[in-house]
Amino acid sequence: MPAFSIIGKGGREYALASILARAHKVYSFGGSDAIREIAEPLDRDVAVDLEKPLSDEARDALLAKPDAVIVFGPEQPMAAGWVDQIRMKAPDARMLGPNQFAAQLESSKWWAKEFMRRNAIPTGAAERIKTVEDFDRFTLQFEPPYVIKADGLAAGKGVAIFKDVGDARAFVDGIVSGDSFGLPQTALIEEFMAGPELSVFLLLDGSCAMQIGTARDYKRAYDNDEGPNTGGMGSFTPVPDISDDDQREIYETVLRPILDGLNKDGIFYRGFLYVGLIRTAQGFRVLEFNVRLGDPETQAVLPVLGDRLPALLELAATGALNQYSEDVDRVADAFMRIPTGSAAVCVVMASEGYPSASPSGLPLTGLDEASRQLAPGQYIFHAGTRRSPEGWVTNGGRVLNVASVADSISSARAKTYELISQLALPNLRYRTDIARQEG
Ligand code: GLY
Repeated sequence: MPAFSIIGKGGREYALASILARAHKVYSFGGSDAIREIAEPLDRDVAVDLEKPLSDEARDALLAKPDAVIVFGPEQPMAAGWVDQIRMKAPDARMLGPNQFAAQLESSKWWAKEFMRRNAIPTGAAERIKTVEDFDRFTLQFEPPYVIKADGLAAGKGVAIFKDVGDARAFVDGIVSGDSFGLPQTALIEEFMAGPELSVFLLLDGSCAMQIGTARDYKRAYDNDEGPNTGGMGSFTPVPDISDDDQREIYETVLRPILDGLNKDGIFYRGFLYVGLIRTAQGFRVLEFNVRLGDPETQAVLPVLGDRLPALLELAATGALNQYSEDVDRVADAFMRIPTGSAAVCVVMASEGYPSASPSGLPLTGLDEASRQLAPGQYIFHAGTRRSPEGWVTNGGRVLNVASVADSISSARAKTYELISQLALPNLRYRTDIARQEG
């Protein structure tokens, strides 16, 4: 029976750990207090910085359980080269996460654009901007609103859309000067595309891919998509307005070219791939790639996958995803899909003031008891929490992810909001309209 080592500390990693821990030994590396209560920590004696290259001591601590499948949660360690560093010391380590080169699909928006251009993957037109003068020149080629992206990782703050050219220029200035994101970096100006968005989550084993779910998330802080952008305030799966024909179109026009492109370019990719799509009048277009699962989409997608998760992860980590035979649509030799079965809705409970401020240390009274009394199909995933001598307290912006699985999105939604009202946590707020339009 495989064991799993989960890297990371957020709600996505808690969801991975808690679902795997139902029947498997799970270890935590760089985890939160809550994750360390359900997964044995491997980093008791070493400091872990997920954004920096792995120290030799930290690598040895992670490899203390050499048989465990190492599952990368957040993108930063992959972008920092951990997969390559681990592979150098332990060539046979089983890992789910791309190496540093392939992780550029997320860590460099321009690299990802070039990959898409080379491989005829439909996406918005874009230009690379190294100076504000580049911006002045390229702006003439684009209609407002102006989509500006920082090339590198920017903790979810690197993309903004502007109606006003002066505001767009100021954002570019912040990126290229280094004032906004630490070091100077290049920016992109990209064609604005309108339409509904959806995310497709793939698990790749190096030669074969499994679509494990589709989801939509809610970026704005308040109901009716008002307020500032956040990391995500809720999600649901599957996306109901995607018909079988749409699925075929997404595979033929987007996913197959991605898989062919990885092969053609010699990019070995093993791990999760998040394909952010938009449905435009001209068809589906790629908005972004992430080399990880989405947060909070994972907290909806994984409860639906449920006990299928460990086998999928183990097979993918050994390059044997093709052997997964249970309940799967074989679309092509190298592409399979978990069929849409049940549905799930996840609502994020956030600190008051998130995203601009996140007071920490506020009590979350009754959380342990509520977690013990969950009905079947209900989940409370810890995200920004900390164990204090008095019990659980807030420790970040997005504090809890409450999710439910049911036969339909409307039933899952009702179960999730019922659980939230039972929790009655006065220090947290949440959107009341997650999945409201979905039936
Ligand atoms: N929910 C969006 C993301 O994970 O990037």
